[in-house]
Amino acid sequence: MIRLAPDQSAQIRRTEKVEFTFDGTAIWGHAGESLAAALIRSGRLHLRDAPEDADPRGAFCLMGLCQECLVVLEGQTVESCRIELQPGLDVTSLRYGADG
Ligand code: FES
Repeated sequence: MIRLAPDQSAQIRRTEKVEFTFDGTAIWGHAGESLAAALIRSGRLHLRDAPEDADPRGAFCLMGLCQECLVVLEGQTVESCRIELQPGLDVTSLRYGADG
């Protein structure tokens, strides 16, 4: 069984919803959880494209090691598993397509 460290899980306030946008769509998560956790729970698993072949990539380690969860936040590429969810975040997926 996988368990969160007690001090980490205790910070998630499940009665408090936090709204943010991902690729222009409004979604919500729980206060205190990571951006990656909120995205996964909402069904957004494709967070970025692989730069080599544009294959879909998404969160893997959830502890800041693999960089599979990269997204764009306020013009910066960040690891979504290391970002605490905040109201009003405007997040976009990281794409390397024809226009990226
Ligand atoms: S999921 Fe591995 S760095 Fe975020």
